[in-house]
Amino acid sequence: MGSLSSTLLWLLICATIIDAQLTPNFYARTCPTLQSIVRDTMAQAVAKEPRMGASMLRLFFHDCFVNGCDASVLLEDTPSFKGEKNAYANQNSLRGFKLMDIIKKNVEAKCKSTVSCSDILALAARDGVVLLGGPKWTVSLGRKDSRTASFEAANVNLPPPTANLATLISLFAAKNLTARDMTALSGAHTIGMARCSTYRSHIYNEANNINAAFATTKMATCPSIGGDDNLAPLDTSTPNHFDNGYFRNLMAKQGLLHSDQELFNGGSQDAWVRLYARSNYALSKDFVVAMLKMGSISPLTGFSGEIRRHCRFVN
Ligand code: HEM
Repeated sequence: MGSLSSTLLWLLICATIIDAQLTPNFYARTCPTLQSIVRDTMAQAVAKEPRMGASMLRLFFHDCFVNGCDASVLLEDTPSFKGEKNAYANQNSLRGFKLMDIIKKNVEAKCKSTVSCSDILALAARDGVVLLGGPKWTVSLGRKDSRTASFEAANVNLPPPTANLATLISLFAAKNLTARDMTALSGAHTIGMARCSTYRSHIYNEANNINAAFATTKMATCPSIGGDDNLAPLDTSTPNHFDNGYFRNLMAKQGLLHSDQELFNGGSQDAWVRLYARSNYALSKDFVVAMLKMGSISPLTGFSGEIRRHCRFVN
């Protein structure tokens, strides 16, 4: 083969690798036991503490919304950048870092320097949902890990619990997710907990937009001053089970966060909330579609990024 045609062939191969879309079979040959390692480790963790399923799902969301699903959220601060862990939405709140270390260690033991932290997180989030009784989906793989993180982007891109509907819609639109995707994804609040500091003003200052008896119950564990870290379940009825109870709560004006109740407050999302409250099937279907979209936000593929050896540090 002439040198021109072999150069062209090489360029074609490179372009194919760089353009490579995420695919479920990415590690089929290089790490065939990956999915069972992640699933088994998640199963043990969730059996010990069911909330861990919720925490891994949120960790994935907070990763993907800040410069894409690239495991940037897992990085510790370095002299050259301030990481995302101490951003407003994450500080004293985001969980699952130690569990990520354990899963990564278990994966490394079988498949050294092969699987990215961002792919492990995508699988762990899916397994967390499944282990708590939610829908199952096939995770596309092939993400690389970032070499940097952004405190500033985390503060701008992650939605705060004080956001109104228009802000929520625009923060998700910025990630190419529709309002319907946003509402379906909020169904994640069917599991897990929130701290008093995130819902205090909703239960004390929004009498016209919250069920009075519900607000009073919540005040018992969330005083008007102090108790910032006291926890309450985001889904008051079944906090450890992934179902559509969250949407029925919204219709009963029992959303815990201000932002939750914004989805059912006479606005454009009321119809979707009604549908999801009525149909677990519709919720599961839309949640999975939206998770797949969220999981493919700006992945690093091909020659971009790296396979971190330790999820908290760049190589
Ligand atoms: C729509 C905008 C959203 C806002 C404003 C929001 C806000 C919050 C807040 C304030 C908490 C409580 C954090 C704490 O007190 O420590 C929380 C928890 C949680 N969020 Fe969201 N969230 C949103 C969307 C999402 C999405 C899209 C997902 C996942 C797909 C998600 C998954 C979770 C989970 C599972 C928890 C519980 C975590 C745990 O118990 O460790 N959230 N969210």
